[in-house]
Amino acid sequence: MLSYAEFYRRSIEQPEAFWDEQARLIDWHTPYTQVLDYSRAPFTHWYAGGTTNLCHNAVDRHLKDRADQNALIWVSTEVDREVTYTYAQLHTEVQKMAAVLKAQGVGKGDRVLIYMPMIPEAAFAMLACVRIGAIHSVVFGGFASVSLASRIDDAQPKVIVSADAGSRGGKVVPYKGLLDEAINLAQSKPSKVLMVNRGLAEMPMTAGRDEDYALLAAGLAGVAVPCEWVEAAHPSYTLYTSGTTGRPKGVQRDTGGYMVNVAASMKHIFMCNPGETYFSTSDIGWVVGHSYIIYGPLLNGMATIMYEGLPIRPDAGIWWSLVEKYKVTAMFSAPTAVRVLKKQDPAYLSKYDLSSLRALFLSGEPLDEPTAQWISDALKRPIIDNYWQTETGAPVLTIANGVEQKASKFGSPGIPMYGFNVKLFNESTGEELTGANEKGVVAIEGPLPPGFMQTVWRDDARYVNTYWKSIPGRQVYSTFDWGIRDQDGYYFILGRTDDVINVAGHRLGTREIEESISSHAQVAEVAVVGVADQLKGQVAMAFAVLKDPSKAATPNDALKLEGEIMKVVDEQLGAVARPARVRFVTLLPKTRSGKLLRRAIQAVCEGRDPGDLTTIEDPTALQQVKDLVQGS
Ligand code: PRX
Repeated sequence: MLSYAEFYRRSIEQPEAFWDEQARLIDWHTPYTQVLDYSRAPFTHWYAGGTTNLCHNAVDRHLKDRADQNALIWVSTEVDREVTYTYAQLHTEVQKMAAVLKAQGVGKGDRVLIYMPMIPEAAFAMLACVRIGAIHSVVFGGFASVSLASRIDDAQPKVIVSADAGSRGGKVVPYKGLLDEAINLAQSKPSKVLMVNRGLAEMPMTAGRDEDYALLAAGLAGVAVPCEWVEAAHPSYTLYTSGTTGRPKGVQRDTGGYMVNVAASMKHIFMCNPGETYFSTSDIGWVVGHSYIIYGPLLNGMATIMYEGLPIRPDAGIWWSLVEKYKVTAMFSAPTAVRVLKKQDPAYLSKYDLSSLRALFLSGEPLDEPTAQWISDALKRPIIDNYWQTETGAPVLTIANGVEQKASKFGSPGIPMYGFNVKLFNESTGEELTGANEKGVVAIEGPLPPGFMQTVWRDDARYVNTYWKSIPGRQVYSTFDWGIRDQDGYYFILGRTDDVINVAGHRLGTREIEESISSHAQVAEVAVVGVADQLKGQVAMAFAVLKDPSKAATPNDALKLEGEIMKVVDEQLGAVARPARVRFVTLLPKTRSGKLLRRAIQAVCEGRDPGDLTTIEDPTALQQVKDLVQGS
């Protein structure tokens, strides 16, 4: 057996041979003629000339051996339902959805935007799109009209698939009104909107545009829609994510490379076998949901649990009861969820038979040591932190116990994964940091492995300029995360270098939140920073300058205005982006050249030393922030 070090070295030194081998994990319709075409560096074209289909690999190819095995297990503690679909049933449902999409004129290369709660139809829609060569773009159901409108305009979908409502903690969250408003705001109008009616909320239909999915799908039970064979580089999906600018980036993923890398991770990282059950508690609106609720488990012939609900409702044992019931072998969640569970009675963990579970994988935000220790003691299973990004498609730093057993170090997600040539650089000189415990920007040297984003949707220049030009003198992909590497090669992630914050594992751009707050008539200027939070990792904190400061003269006025501003954010971006507090100041701390001193604000909010302030224009501005923070 190969040691991990040898496995890794081969992936970096002989990437073509390495990924040629991994490509055997999936079916190809026609073989590729070149493993990697890197003639357009930094753009990679993996498996050039090969044709395949993601839905064929995730569904159809398993029919031979596992038609009657569970494929999708849908559990909703919101509407108290549990429905399982075997691979044969999933195949039927996906073809129905594919037939409906085709009847609405959706074909290869067309975009379909999916704005849905965690219901089976969302999975059917994703799989149906890739089946017919359409490109899906799932927008997280927690986003509201303005967020949605900007994504509609960028993706320009022919069809939108949505539902009347989601539900959270037993409370109905209507979607249709937000969707209608988003379509009104958008320049690019979809020709059709397919609605799934759950009977939870009003669903006013726009004649000629909106269709009830159930009506269109009725009678299509036996419909056959063949898979469209696409070239490996054909985009399978775009997924929007936040960066420094307010405009979200459409992370574009290919088909062939993505499948290979995700399938490889199921084996090498998640140690899963076909026929087992995988449970990722994420949402399909995020990359973890794409790779590890839908594609990874299904590519690997597993049953996947899709869960709609909270981790503590009806009680804190719900997830563990599912592990017992469905004999889950690998579970994937986020540190925030574990911190929520940690506040509950630990007896919930010993109540169920968890013997099937081999490991718990955690990702999306830093995993603090006390949380890791608590869940490790409670589960008595390996807790495997893994670091990655929407852009990377699969873990970049973790341990690959499927290749060689290695110990985790609490606080560190681990070591570089095969295919990822991870390095640290000084952000201002571009010097590579090769020593132990030096802090730098985490970067990845090309060629990037299969499954990595191909480009920014319709904007190659933005891809290159954003990701490949941020470290002086270096043509490397920047993750925009700070990190250090210890003497054993384990990395530690120390937060973002840009204006991205991470609230309960949700990646948000502070600029987007600032833009939304600024749209309130009273706001002249605002700064949003991420502040450390015991439960959510970080929360957004806003400091606003009012056009007329007298509007917040009394504590009551200020509270009222704060509520109004939060409502604006809720309506435009969604509650997920709502700042924890909006405070009012008369001046924001800036440099003499007018640059906002966000880091200094953040430091003061966290009770840290704000550092070098020699360039600050007016020190009283920071003092105002300090007074507010200390006073609260
Ligand atoms: O800052 C890092 C943080 O989340 C960012 C990526 O978020 P997103 O695109 O939503 O992808 C999540 C995929 C799991 C990263 O730039 N992050 C992610 N995982 C970790 C992490 N920070 C610390 N430890 C992690 N394990």
